[in-house]
Amino acid sequence: MFRHVQPYAGDSILSLNETFGKDPRANKINLSIGIYFGDDGKIPMLPSVRAAELQVVAEAGARPYLPMEGAANFRTAVQHLLFGADNAALQAGRVVTIQTVGSSGGLKVGADFIKHYFPSSTVLLSDPTWDNHRAVFEGSGLKISTYPYYDTETGGLCFDAMLAALASSERQSVVVLHACCHNPTGVDLSKDQWQRLLPVLQERELIPFLDLAYQGFGDDIQEDAFIIRLLAESGMSFFVANSFSKNMGLYGERCGALSVICPTEAQTVNVMGQLKAIVRRDYSNPPMHGAKIVARVLTNPDLRLLWEAEVVSMRERIHVMRNQLHYALSSKCSGRDFDYFLTQRGMFSYTGLSPLQCDQLKDSFGVYILRSGRMCMAGLNSRNVEATASAIAAIIV
Ligand code: LMR
Repeated sequence: MFRHVQPYAGDSILSLNETFGKDPRANKINLSIGIYFGDDGKIPMLPSVRAAELQVVAEAGARPYLPMEGAANFRTAVQHLLFGADNAALQAGRVVTIQTVGSSGGLKVGADFIKHYFPSSTVLLSDPTWDNHRAVFEGSGLKISTYPYYDTETGGLCFDAMLAALASSERQSVVVLHACCHNPTGVDLSKDQWQRLLPVLQERELIPFLDLAYQGFGDDIQEDAFIIRLLAESGMSFFVANSFSKNMGLYGERCGALSVICPTEAQTVNVMGQLKAIVRRDYSNPPMHGAKIVARVLTNPDLRLLWEAEVVSMRERIHVMRNQLHYALSSKCSGRDFDYFLTQRGMFSYTGLSPLQCDQLKDSFGVYILRSGRMCMAGLNSRNVEATASAIAAIIV
């Protein structure tokens, strides 16, 4: 019956993480998947999240289905987090938000919506981008192309080339943009660059699709939403998929959302209706537990304060690791420039190591980074940073 089913080549991130799990070496180091680990090497259970969960569990009653669009208090809390409670687009009723199965779920529901209502639009992805972006949008049947983003020479952004490519792209193309902490490079647009991008997006009538999976890991929770607020203020229509996997450590609860910013309040009614229709077809309605925790953390003033401080400490620990790796590598390989570890932001750095060198790191030293050269800085800790530097030094000299 299934002879014609092809083998699955595996996923460049999730499958490598599984290989790491099976690796029997005691000194192995996981810098592959985008998960924040504490200095003890474990995924932290944030005290704010734990406290919220205990409250939620204590109050738990019957478990009815959630509506197709998800829990109302979760959706409102997400909108306030992304846009700011007093945002004019929100006040004008121009924003619809649905709870989704992680931000991947938000990307997928958004991609299906775009395929239906903008079937001939091409989706423009940054070169490079998160490996799964292509799979999600292609999986919805959309055409994919790329725009220049990362400059291999400088380890920074090739902004002029990016701007030029978008300025000559087809009208109503969908542009997938990482709102902060670009995955995989850690290279972001500055505020000034976002402002210069805006007229290009408007002039070409492009459809921005923002992916915000790392809110709080760049500058801070508010600043990391800069582009969302800039676009909302400009009156443009756009999509945002956001996630609480990283900033609340709720990976397995799959807590995310999709927001669509419409030109008028009247248009939100049908947009919301069609988003619900997609959800109903795909998985009916989202799960309840994680959304209750997120809503509690975001809306309880004490828990909110605690959570914001926890996000600061996660962000700062990654900074410390960036500095330590930079220092260790600079001492071991004098004359080589590792400043990109300091200038790139968020969870990831793009090391420029070749796939072969990445394989060597894994096979000879048990250091796992993606074959693209992406390293998750949040997997470094005070006990493995020196070993990581030694392994990289041994590979590159
Ligand atoms: C990553 O990029 O490693 C994470 O976002 C996990 C994933 O789903 O790929």
